[in-house]
Amino acid sequence: MVKVLLISAFCLALNVLVLAEEEAVTAARLLIEKQILNKYLVENRDIVVNYNIFNVGQSPAIDVHITDNSFSSEHFDVMSGVLKVTIARLGPGSNITHTSVVRPKAGIWGRFNFTAGEVTYLVSEDSKDIQLGYTSEPGEGFIVSLKEFDRRFSPHVLDWAAFAIMTLPSLLFPFLLWYRSKSKYESIVSSKQANKKH
Ligand SMILES: *[C@@H]1O[C@H](CO)[C@@H](O)[C@H](O)[C@H]1NC(C)=O
Ligand SMILES: *[C@@H]1O[C@H](CO)[C@@H](O)[C@H](O)[C@H]1NC(C)=O
Repeated sequence: MVKVLLISAFCLALNVLVLAEEEAVTAARLLIEKQILNKYLVENRDIVVNYNIFNVGQSPAIDVHITDNSFSSEHFDVMSGVLKVTIARLGPGSNITHTSVVRPKAGIWGRFNFTAGEVTYLVSEDSKDIQLGYTSEPGEGFIVSLKEFDRRFSPHVLDWAAFAIMTLPSLLFPFLLWYRSKSKYESIVSSKQANKKH
């Protein structure tokens, strides 16, 4: 009798274990990649942030909330998109991308550590388990001041463009003159040579 009880208790434990494992295998599992799409990070200029959300699990993820607290309102303005996203349902094997645009406020520049956002979701349609996770961390970047950025890029480009436009006529005109006289000379030479032969 004791043996039978022990065995059934063991079977029960095994069952619970198998159930737990099955839940783990069939549950939703979200991977979230947080990406900064800018080539340059500049004070007072837009920074585009992408959140690529993949459900690599076997069940739909329900009631997905993504919250990114890494852009404090003290330092950043949100230009478009939001930093708190809710997705009602994300099917297994599917993905979705959310894009936000933030802008460092005037006077905010220097080293900045782009850290992770947080996500919570239910692991299946009828689950009550709230799963907590994090997005990937883009890592450290450097926000340059607008002044520095302008000094390095825009004015030079403008200067060169202006220089090119201003010098184009003065380069083009002599070239045309030279080209005309050259072709005239060549045609004289070639006609002279043609005359000699006859
Ligand atoms: C994301 O989903 C789209 C369809 O919605 C699919 O075409 C694309 O291949 C998926 N991307 C990845 C990396 O799974
Ligand atoms: C950036 O922040 C993360 C998470 O807070 C931390 O682990 C990492 O060391 C930081 N990186 C730098 C360079 O400070």
